[in-house]
Amino acid sequence: MDTVTGVALPDEAELRRRVDRLSLEQKIRLLTGEDFWALYAEPDAGLRRLVLSDGPAGVRGQSWDERDSSANVPSATALAATWDTGRIEAIGGLLAREARRKGVDVLLAPTVNLHRTPYGGRCFECFSEDPLLTARIGAAYVRGLQRSGVGATVKHFVGNDSETQRMTVDVRIDDRTLRELYLVPFEAIVREEGAWAVMAAYNGVNGSPMTQSPLLRDILHGEWGYDGLVMSDWTAAHATEATAQAALDLAMPGPASQYGPWGDALLEAVGKGAVDQALIDDKVVRILRLAARVGALTDVPAPPAPATSEPDSVAVAQELRAAAAAGFVLARNDGILPLSRPGSPGRLGPDRRLRVALIGPNAEVARTLGGGSATVFPPYTISPLDGLRAAGLHVTYAPGVTSHLRAGAARAPWLLRPGRPFDPGTGAEIRYFAESGELAGWELRDGATFLWLSGFASSGVTEPVARLEIRCVIRATVGGAYQLGVSGLGRYRLLVDGAEVFDATLVLPEDTDIGEALMRPPQQGVPVDLAAGQSVDVVAEHDVASSPFAGFGTLVQLNLVPPHGTDDEEIAAAAAMAAASDAAVVVVGTTAEVESEGFDRTTLALPGRQDELVRRVIAANPRTVAVVNSGAPVLLPWAQDAAAVLLSWFGGQEYGDALADVLLGDVEPGGRLPMTWPASEEGLPSTQPADGVLTYHEGLFIGYRAYDRDGREPLFPFGHGSGYTTWSHESITLDCAPDGRKWTGRGVAACVQVRNTGSRPGREVVQVYASRPDSAVERPAKWLAGFATADAEPGETVTVGILIPERAFQHWDGQGWATEPGSFVLAAGPSSASLPLTTRVELP
Ligand code: BGC
Repeated sequence: MDTVTGVALPDEAELRRRVDRLSLEQKIRLLTGEDFWALYAEPDAGLRRLVLSDGPAGVRGQSWDERDSSANVPSATALAATWDTGRIEAIGGLLAREARRKGVDVLLAPTVNLHRTPYGGRCFECFSEDPLLTARIGAAYVRGLQRSGVGATVKHFVGNDSETQRMTVDVRIDDRTLRELYLVPFEAIVREEGAWAVMAAYNGVNGSPMTQSPLLRDILHGEWGYDGLVMSDWTAAHATEATAQAALDLAMPGPASQYGPWGDALLEAVGKGAVDQALIDDKVVRILRLAARVGALTDVPAPPAPATSEPDSVAVAQELRAAAAAGFVLARNDGILPLSRPGSPGRLGPDRRLRVALIGPNAEVARTLGGGSATVFPPYTISPLDGLRAAGLHVTYAPGVTSHLRAGAARAPWLLRPGRPFDPGTGAEIRYFAESGELAGWELRDGATFLWLSGFASSGVTEPVARLEIRCVIRATVGGAYQLGVSGLGRYRLLVDGAEVFDATLVLPEDTDIGEALMRPPQQGVPVDLAAGQSVDVVAEHDVASSPFAGFGTLVQLNLVPPHGTDDEEIAAAAAMAAASDAAVVVVGTTAEVESEGFDRTTLALPGRQDELVRRVIAANPRTVAVVNSGAPVLLPWAQDAAAVLLSWFGGQEYGDALADVLLGDVEPGGRLPMTWPASEEGLPSTQPADGVLTYHEGLFIGYRAYDRDGREPLFPFGHGSGYTTWSHESITLDCAPDGRKWTGRGVAACVQVRNTGSRPGREVVQVYASRPDSAVERPAKWLAGFATADAEPGETVTVGILIPERAFQHWDGQGWATEPGSFVLAAGPSSASLPLTTRVELP
């Protein structure tokens, strides 16, 4: 009986009987994917095709296609900022429903690598700098998915905490740091939730690539008793024998004739005795066990399928809107928030409509998710501009500056499909041509960015494609110079009204990461002067084989930069607009060029002249709220001058509505920082390997552990944030009975009493940190040991029970977990920098 779904599953012996029915060829065939996203069916074992999909901000499904939309949940950082495991478990349930709607069995999520440094390109996709918070939020995410019969893939095991040279880098992590930081989330999720799949990372750790690392067998299998499947990250497996001997079960993607080191080479290795057959059998058992869990064994009852709902349904919208607001961190507020609603008896008077100047590039086109494999295509996105307008505010908008340093994809209102004068729609027509020059297929698309992974089958074209044509109409809204162009790799021709404007081959250095190649490809563009209302036919042609990545994927993006003022002009216009308004809301943030898979950040500064923009707006109107739309920390050198600072992450498809809810006070900003927000770039660990090696010199001291040790002040400390009410932290007692029941587990039960001293109902995140004064062992000054959320009405006092596990008092002594006898301090409060309550725990 599976403890998660309550479904009777075949036991080990039954799985082995199925394996025994297969020939060696059949077994080995199962160990590499059938294609980019699926495993082979094997009727002789009762196995149907099993489908995997990215993750983690939604369930993309088997194609990279804007027409195949998915509910877009807030970024991992936003989810962690809720500190609310119940809410995250519910989000896991929503993702399970999405998975089932899209025919997906296993989600390639959550990402539980740590924010070792904010430069990490995928920090937005990872929860936190703290192992315990990552473990708790990650476990809740996995619970929500697996309870509904959809597998989770905990990734990337381990040490993939940055992107630079990620496919080859050897990460050196000392044993204690590995155990006490980087393995913690994997261990907790594997042991507590029995994760059904783990993804082995691209990088190596301490000398072995993770797809052939002894850590898989020794720690994951051996110490943690893991019975799930280990798959490689995409193309991460290389050596045939070493990966087969290690506890890697599945090489992705497939087929083996195209990718990965197994297939015939593994057959040969087994034939000559270099790889034991028993290892192959064990891998197949694990594939079948995963299949049984997700209901992919045709003769075994599947777990009850969750009801599906459309990604644009009211129920999904409500849940995502509430989740986004629950993760917003109000880092600073001089009292300006919540803004008075029009007509409410606020300081602006009952009969005046609040005039808000909404400013900033991300206010009109918000980032709702980060780039790379985490990309999904939401059915719609609500920008801050949409959200504030829908809330009934009198909003004026100015972009302020251009934050994209590269040309962006063509979009509405300029981008139109060709040949449909009465119902043009936004998008393009794509024509696929075979080697013979014959048309092999065509389709209408909704955007201007097109990526095909491993052939064109996702567009219904099965014969080999030699050439692509992307056809659209660009219509000028105002007269001026429009920059037209393409992004991609290989040869592209661009024609405007039938005349060639360029024929260029776009190249990247040979060792460029595939993620970077696809997310930040080279560009070519030309200015084209258009009169207001003028339309031109635009055709971009691409020779598929001309791209060095053609075997992996083909990318064409049609770019358009409409005429815009200079930054000087736009900043002046924004400041004037702010001066003439009751309040200004400036939405600043990063772009896909900055936060994406495949590369790290090289600066934490906001791109373009956004800092200058904020300063000018604050100078024009001191009632300025700065909203930060980034997946991870950026420098905010003006933070102390803004009336309020709201850190809102990549907020998912309902971002703008959630923002309106919070700015107007209909909903509390519920978040607390899941990482330390730096004031400067001083003292942050580097992501840059030296001679292929990245040494984690800082050891245990990442995030707040480093700030504490060095006595440095961040801009906002770990755990910081407030809602719209105030709290007093009254008392902490130990060995209490949280929820009226005496806790009998290993560890300590702490009860913390908090009182809502404000005038609104609210939710507080009560945090408990452990420390060990005068320790004989080198330790951080303090570390997160437990947390809980408390809901209270104005004036109400509530007590939350926080279970501090035994592990919180242990350290890795090189051989195992050890507890230093004597006294530990537990300190509780609203953030790592404010811990008014303390007590002591005596350990034998
Ligand atoms: C990423 C994984 C992802 C996989 C499949 C890899 O490049 O590192 O996180 O799941 O691609 O898209």
